[in-house]
Amino acid sequence: MTQSSGWPDGPRGHPLLGHLPELRRDALGFLRHTRAAYGDVFPIRFGPREVLAVAEPAAAREVLVTKAASFRKGRGIQKMEPFLGTGLLTSEGEVWRRHRRLMQPAFHRAALEGMAGDIVRATEPLLGWLGEAARSGEPVNVASEMLHVTLRAVAAVLFGTALAEDDLRVVERELPPLLESTTNRVRSLVDWDLPTPARFREKAAERALDGIVNRIIRERRAAGGEGRDLLGMLLAARDEEGGGGLTDAELRDEVMTLFLAGHETTATLLTFLFLSLSRHPEARERAQAEVREVLGDRTPTAADTRHLPYLNACIQETLRLYPPAWLVPRQATRPVTVAGVPLAEGANVSVNIFLLQRSARYWPQPDAFMPERWLGQGRTPDAFMPFGAGARMCIGNHLALLEAALIAGLVLREYTLEVPDGGPTGLIAGVTLKPDGPVRAQVRRA
Ligand code: HEM
Repeated sequence: MTQSSGWPDGPRGHPLLGHLPELRRDALGFLRHTRAAYGDVFPIRFGPREVLAVAEPAAAREVLVTKAASFRKGRGIQKMEPFLGTGLLTSEGEVWRRHRRLMQPAFHRAALEGMAGDIVRATEPLLGWLGEAARSGEPVNVASEMLHVTLRAVAAVLFGTALAEDDLRVVERELPPLLESTTNRVRSLVDWDLPTPARFREKAAERALDGIVNRIIRERRAAGGEGRDLLGMLLAARDEEGGGGLTDAELRDEVMTLFLAGHETTATLLTFLFLSLSRHPEARERAQAEVREVLGDRTPTAADTRHLPYLNACIQETLRLYPPAWLVPRQATRPVTVAGVPLAEGANVSVNIFLLQRSARYWPQPDAFMPERWLGQGRTPDAFMPFGAGARMCIGNHLALLEAALIAGLVLREYTLEVPDGGPTGLIAGVTLKPDGPVRAQVRRA
């Protein structure tokens, strides 16, 4: 297997499989070793496909910001197209630009202020469940509880109270397997789309979700649109340059995209946050004292979350150590250089956010959980981009941080989650980063 000309040296790898065996066995370990041996910009091979891995802030900015016009999203994301259609995550060019322009105002921090109440309401079942677990002594599965609560939160933010409990149960049942099969498709090396039983099941799940989402869009449109939830804002959005708003089909794709992009990522952040706080009781106690002092017994608002500097520092530190979207892939659409390395049209590059945020060059004690490093910090460091960068940066970043602070604040005010023996220490680097085993916690009243 020949290497692209002008590319830096990298590990040799298997002649046919490239580095797949190493990546399958322990992707992060392999990538860390390779970076230590070859530097911050190095090639790796997925079978015949060569990818330039980038773990250095200036080169990451070239890919995502200054030379972004020379790239499109990577091949993995393109495989989500059958389900997500023209949604923000998968679309490119003019379609993406128009949708982003129409949707951006709904995701501004100020627009999200009014949604704190929905997030708090969506957290109530979790608090009830933790109360039961505290009484019974039964451990809770933190990762699955976080998936439930973030799904409820994103549903509440999108639809207000329009999503009935029955609909929510269908979404809770159908979305996770669909997410998993989409993830498997993204990871798979082959592009077969065979009519397997799993594929039929996927289609049925898609139809069930479509039914609910399309019905809500229709009902809302018939009732005069608008409303203060996200769907209302998206229905009301109009293109300043003429061209009207989003059609029902476009709205469907965007709603599915927001469900998919906004649910597991935030759940993963919260799982790692509770895991880290359980391993660092002094940090947990400090966060709990802050939450109790600032929130008292009140229902928290969005403004309250800005007065929780220590909890927010814990959230930032969790995002640094465990970036849920740990890899941002791109494909060159024309010849371009990155860190001086020439990329031909069609060449693949991936910004490795995990390596970047664990680099000893930018972070003292890079593997240690040290929320203090964020206190008093006025600006975001260059080697920190858990939400990506540039025009395609996460549209939901403020929403994710608001959700995380509210949900964590509400839980910590009342409960302590303790993971016996520190929980799983390994990481699985799939489409999102996850602990390599179940995170079970004992719950105590705080
Ligand atoms: C901790 C939680 C989250 C993390 C770490 C995260 C991370 C990211 C990253 C890294 C990207 C850029 C991908 C790329 O450039 O290829 C992205 C894009 C995106 N995210 Fe998030 N995200 C989170 C939560 C959310 C939420 C809550 C929503 C919405 C409900 C959301 C919606 C999106 C959308 C629609 C895009 C595509 C934006 C575009 O291309 O215009 N994300 N996210």
